[in-house]
Amino acid sequence: MNTFRLQLRFLVPLVLTLVAAAYLALPLMDRLTLRWFSRDLDLRGSLLANALSDSIAEALRARGMARLQTIFDHAVQDERLVAIGLCSVDGQLLRSTDDYPDKLTCANALATAARADHLLRIAGGPVHVGAYPVNDESGRVADLVLLHDMSFIERRSQDTRQYLIILIAALGATIAMITVVVAQLSWRGWVSGARALLRGEGLLRPLLPPTPELAPLAADLRTRLRDLDDEYRRIHGLQAEWGPDRLRSLLRTQLRGDEIIVVSNREPYIHEHAPAGMIVKRPASGLVTAIEPVLRACSGTWIAHGSGSADRQVVDPRDHMLAPPGRAEYTLRRIWLTEREELGYYYGFANEGLWPLCHVAHVRPVFREPDWQAYREINQRFADAVVDEARSEDPVVMVQDYHFALLPAMIRERLPRATILTFWHIPWPNPESFGICPWRREILQGMLGSTIVGFQTRFHCKNFIETIDRTLEARIEHEHSTISYQDEDTFVESYPISIEWPSAASMAAWPSIEQCRRNVTQRLGLAADQKIAVGIDRLDYTKGVIERMQAVERLLEQRPEWVGRLVLVQAAAPSRSVLEEYSLFQQRIGLLAEHINQRFGTAEYRPIRLLMEHHERDAVNELYRAADVCLVTSLHDGMNLVCKEFVAARDDERGVLILSRFAGAAREMTEALVVNPYHVEDCAAQIQRALTMPEPEQRERMASLRMTVREFNVYRWAGRMLADAGRLRLRGRIEARVQRHHDA
Ligand code: G6P
Repeated sequence: MNTFRLQLRFLVPLVLTLVAAAYLALPLMDRLTLRWFSRDLDLRGSLLANALSDSIAEALRARGMARLQTIFDHAVQDERLVAIGLCSVDGQLLRSTDDYPDKLTCANALATAARADHLLRIAGGPVHVGAYPVNDESGRVADLVLLHDMSFIERRSQDTRQYLIILIAALGATIAMITVVVAQLSWRGWVSGARALLRGEGLLRPLLPPTPELAPLAADLRTRLRDLDDEYRRIHGLQAEWGPDRLRSLLRTQLRGDEIIVVSNREPYIHEHAPAGMIVKRPASGLVTAIEPVLRACSGTWIAHGSGSADRQVVDPRDHMLAPPGRAEYTLRRIWLTEREELGYYYGFANEGLWPLCHVAHVRPVFREPDWQAYREINQRFADAVVDEARSEDPVVMVQDYHFALLPAMIRERLPRATILTFWHIPWPNPESFGICPWRREILQGMLGSTIVGFQTRFHCKNFIETIDRTLEARIEHEHSTISYQDEDTFVESYPISIEWPSAASMAAWPSIEQCRRNVTQRLGLAADQKIAVGIDRLDYTKGVIERMQAVERLLEQRPEWVGRLVLVQAAAPSRSVLEEYSLFQQRIGLLAEHINQRFGTAEYRPIRLLMEHHERDAVNELYRAADVCLVTSLHDGMNLVCKEFVAARDDERGVLILSRFAGAAREMTEALVVNPYHVEDCAAQIQRALTMPEPEQRERMASLRMTVREFNVYRWAGRMLADAGRLRLRGRIEARVQRHHDA
């Protein structure tokens, strides 16, 4: 597609240049031919005049007008000669043949003959006028005027024009052919050219017989392609800003507009029955925050569990609805689960087994056989839905997270040519930790059905590759980060996920920082001069909420000057509360908040404000904008998008981010105050530092963080994955072709 556009970009100017050349060349050509023929006729006329000169002079001397007439009539039989006239030296027409134009005076004839073109248009067509002196011994006695037919010149000139046009067109076609071939071989890079040649694509296709002679080159070619791929990968990281348009154009160019199917457990919109009627909720999920803008840009299909109590009411008979509600930018396909299935697959295997297994947050993973059965069944149900939704044999399927470790291999079985991108949003533990999972082999085999397995950090990739190495008989090519298992390759790479950077229009619509602060202080009954620290999380034991509250407690203990002047506003969306671990956690948080509030609070002042409910985006944004400090203290987190959202919300470049070193985001967001959440004293000291940080330092840190998040946004995340997918798809096609040559 790209090459085609490049070729067009060259060919169109080429064609225009040729047309312009023809436009300029044709009149020039006409003038030249006219001059050549005119000179020819002049020569002819002067020969004739010389031949007739003596006879005419003699007839004049003898006043033999009849003799003159005979000479003229005889001469005019020449088919080119139209008419003859004889002018006296004083400009009188003495004699002329019948066709001599009445209006052509001797003065006019002599004047025309003196011009370079000698051209005169008369009723019978264009004529060449030549005037030649007739001499006798005494000198010039008359002028002989010869009118030669010139219409044949126009005919010849037309013929010449035709030849010229044909010549230019042939020249143009030849140059265009050469251009296209050269473009195939050089503009797309010689590799692409070779790829096209191997595929027999482009203009060369009809000319290209099967090419067994390329077979010996195949191995070299493969190696070369891999090296170029690596180089491309390195360069690709440095490219300019990513946005929806660039992502769309990447889809068009590198994936030839192939369809995108996303699979995740959590759906982007949850329809619920509420006392006031049906409501639509946006779930508290970093995954959803990240994937939504990508799907909106790519307009594909998102398959997810329909978990809302009113979800069934808004789908069509194929369980589809257009999302976002009212904007219809992509299709949401809902999958239904029974309570028992949800208990086994989602709460059980995914959230009591894999979640604690991967997070290593000192909560023991629980693995039960029936949960595993449910996990397998539901993965199969989603795989069937992918096959059902696929409109081609080779869709691009983006599998999200730990709920679907078995899905890639299940899809691969039914759609062998699909490009499957699996992204593991949460950490991947070391091989020893992962080793406690009774179904570790099946999980890894399932994931290796993917074309690409993506993690948030290089460290997680390394853990994954090591786990494969210890568990399966796979060949690992560390240099290219590729795992070969049962003749299939899986590329393992880190793609740090991010958020959509807010558009200028949405930022302009935000209430001012002062307004947000006023709203929050009024709603929570805070004093205007109180410092606000915020924590925004799902109620999950991995988020370090307890450690954060303990750090605030320690600060109030160590620095009593903050008592009455510091409030931690903790928004905590209830999550997975069916599980005991989560409900206990919720209780523990409630108790700790109460304890701290009793210890340091008064009737008007409570240092910990727990908001244990779901908050919609605007409300969360208001908290970010009202805050002096944002606390992200995860004990372990794949990435954590709260810190990125906080930074995006602070267009005033104020506010301080405290960030756990155990969140993937800490690798990119080095200007935050990075803490070890297990070290309560250190956290307290960092909160103190944040609360007293001078404004210029806040601005400097925040400006730099904003630059990072803006550039490393979610479109870049998706773009890098899809670009890699595009390359691998292409390579797959080439290798299939090379293989066919080998087999032939
Ligand atoms: C994490 C997971 C997501 C999940 C989110 C919310 O971010 O990586 O897959 O959607 O938590 O959890 P929930 O179980 O409510 O979907």
